[in-house]
Amino acid sequence: MSELNAVVADAAIEFHSVVKRFLRHDRRDESFLAVDRLSFAVAPGEMIAVLGRTGCGKSTMFNLLAGLIEPTEGTVRVLGHDPFREFNWYRGKLAVVFQNDRLLPWRTALGNVELGIELLGKEEEERRAIALGWLERLGLKGHEHDYPHALSGGMRQRVSIARAFAVNPEILLCDEPFSALDELTGQRLREEYTQLVRENGKTSIFVTHSINEALQLGERILVFHRPARIALEARVAGGDREAIRQRVLEAMNPNEPRLAEEAA
Ligand SMILES: Nc1ncnc2c1ncn2[C@@H]1O[C@H](COP(=O)(O)OP(=O)(O)OP(=O)(O)O)[C@@H](O)[C@H]1O
Ligand SMILES: [Mg+2]
Repeated sequence: MSELNAVVADAAIEFHSVVKRFLRHDRRDESFLAVDRLSFAVAPGEMIAVLGRTGCGKSTMFNLLAGLIEPTEGTVRVLGHDPFREFNWYRGKLAVVFQNDRLLPWRTALGNVELGIELLGKEEEERRAIALGWLERLGLKGHEHDYPHALSGGMRQRVSIARAFAVNPEILLCDEPFSALDELTGQRLREEYTQLVRENGKTSIFVTHSINEALQLGERILVFHRPARIALEARVAGGDREAIRQRVLEAMNPNEPRLAEEAA
């Protein structure tokens, strides 16, 4: 096996020259380029933060990763498999925390957390014990039997994190899950999330608009430009945070230095 193949075989996630075009039915079927030859690899156990301005294709990359859409060109590999063509292979191996919590309103907090484990075919008793354990770890003891409408936004977000971790997946994907929360709650959840990912040795990709969030949740930051391609890759671990913040700001606002200063 060549050295390149060996690297690829070891990656938890790999995008190789991925292109995604959407057909615009409203505009005489013109195609719209959302992802432009995107290539990157993520090692097992690595925490990556993906940053980019609105509309640059972050969620599209995320949907390609989760196997919800198919690339137009190029290859996406997650744990060595094709997420779109082998969607069912990922059951229990990959979990997603969405921007809005996407809880089922007719299920209690406990019922929502149990859902992912149910799909894995575990026995009821084991399922319940795992779900209760995760709810407790996320500070939801006493709220197990509450329905989503009776929980605050921060609590619902905790339920969706518990639901993702309860499956014990190798890979966690988060698309701006904390952006709608107040600063303090968001901060606490970010700390909890980082700790859980590290303790459990998960591979994590976190999509965000916020530089602070990216600096906190990423060992490596990828800045996307529109259409999605990598404008900057910065290693956070062990680096000078202020210098990284400056480089990230410049990469996000290449033609607007004043805006970059204001955002800082
Ligand atoms: N199914 C689709 N059909 C047509 N165009 C799409 C589709 N999905 C996304 N797009 C377009 O692709 C571009 C990238 O969208 P995407 O949702 O990936 O951006 P984003 O970086 O996640 O933005 P935000 O930060 O606002 O969430 C946008 O211009 C969007 O209109
Ligand atoms: Mg998005």
